[in-house]
Amino acid sequence: MSGPAPHGKPWGGRFTGSPHPAAERFTASLGFDRRLWPYDLEGSRAWARALNRAGLLTTEELAQILRGLDEVGQELAAGTFPFRPELEDIHMNIERRLQDKAGAVGGKLHTGRSRNDQIALDERLYLRDVIGGIDGGLREVQSALIRRAEEHLGVPMPGYTHLQRAQPLLLSHHLLAYVFMLQRDRERFRDCLGRVNVLPLGSGALAGTAFAIDREALARDLGFARPSSNSLDAVSDRDFLLEFLGAAAILGMHWSRLAADLTLWAAAEFGFVEFSDAFATGSSIMPQKKNPDVAELIRGKCGRLYGNLLAVLATLKGLPLAYNSDMQEDKEPLFDSVDVLEAVLGVLPPMLASLTFNADRMREAAGADYSTATDLADYLVRKGLPFRQAHEVVGGVVRHAIETKRALEALSLEELTRFSRLFAADVFQAISVEASLRARAAIGGTAPDAVRRALA
Ligand code: ARG
Repeated sequence: MSGPAPHGKPWGGRFTGSPHPAAERFTASLGFDRRLWPYDLEGSRAWARALNRAGLLTTEELAQILRGLDEVGQELAAGTFPFRPELEDIHMNIERRLQDKAGAVGGKLHTGRSRNDQIALDERLYLRDVIGGIDGGLREVQSALIRRAEEHLGVPMPGYTHLQRAQPLLLSHHLLAYVFMLQRDRERFRDCLGRVNVLPLGSGALAGTAFAIDREALARDLGFARPSSNSLDAVSDRDFLLEFLGAAAILGMHWSRLAADLTLWAAAEFGFVEFSDAFATGSSIMPQKKNPDVAELIRGKCGRLYGNLLAVLATLKGLPLAYNSDMQEDKEPLFDSVDVLEAVLGVLPPMLASLTFNADRMREAAGADYSTATDLADYLVRKGLPFRQAHEVVGGVVRHAIETKRALEALSLEELTRFSRLFAADVFQAISVEASLRARAAIGGTAPDAVRRALA
């Protein structure tokens, strides 16, 4: 007896019974792994060439298979591909369709290959592509932030610790903080790419391939740095995917903090920023409302990025080597994280570009609440007082100012000298917002010159 069993599975020969429809639905991954089709085709083309080099396909057979794969690719691109869920996944759908197109020679393509090394390959090819796009998208977010920072160079704002006004900052310095976070994110993705870029194909199901495949040549053909070194590891390894999800989770955390800052600044209590109508929504009941929904959702989607990382970590935990069907569960979290990243990358640059910063409000707030008290202490330090004593003295000055309901600049020199004889007339220049900013000129500080250097 030969040929596929009545239910048409590629493993039909071993089976007499048909799968239960519920089991068939349950095991199918076609619903989500179909998005890997371009990579599955790319891998299959390269595998066919490797089979040809190994003498397992004649040049004519190779040409037939490549032609067949092109036709399959055209159907997939055009949306006319006849997907068959009973064929479980994208790999078997493409392989069966190839046989429709190319005839029996199509049945030679899977020689020495397993879906286990095939799916590991597809995921790596997919991620290589995705990471390139994310890097470009992150560069755009950085550009949007840098543009806003350049436009507002010189605008002071209060900086916070514990969400209490702490010291004056330049708005540009605050915006640039996010640029540097995103720079690390880009580095993390690039670093992850180094481990993505290893060829698993040619590992077979788990033990390696039994045919004389030149895996170095195959790696070169697919643009990988090198072939994997251990077949068992290669089909079981999803570290590269976890690293991607980890980098995505950290990036999401950065975005969530940016979104949180902006939504806070948009509250009337702050009044530092206004979202444009194009990136806000109203309320179905309160006519006056303007809600920063886009920013809130950017913050909210971060939770999914964490969840996806945890989902795959939990799936892989304790799995015996090598491939287990549990690993099919890696794809939905991966795709979901990619979708979230792409969605946020699409909306963040235009949202940032459309923000209106209220410079007056920020400037006014920057100098309030004794935000230059540290500068007053630093003034005493410059006159020779040990910092700890200066801190104590200025603590007393601030308490006096609070009790008499005045700002530091509103105290007279006579009052100040009651706290320390080191205070002189030049003290008032030292505690202006501008002086406070200017003083922080060391590398990485908020001084206008330092920020200008950082911008450059
Ligand atoms: N659809 C499978 C996955 O996503 C492909 C590999 C299946 N291998 C197997 N032996 N069942 O992981």
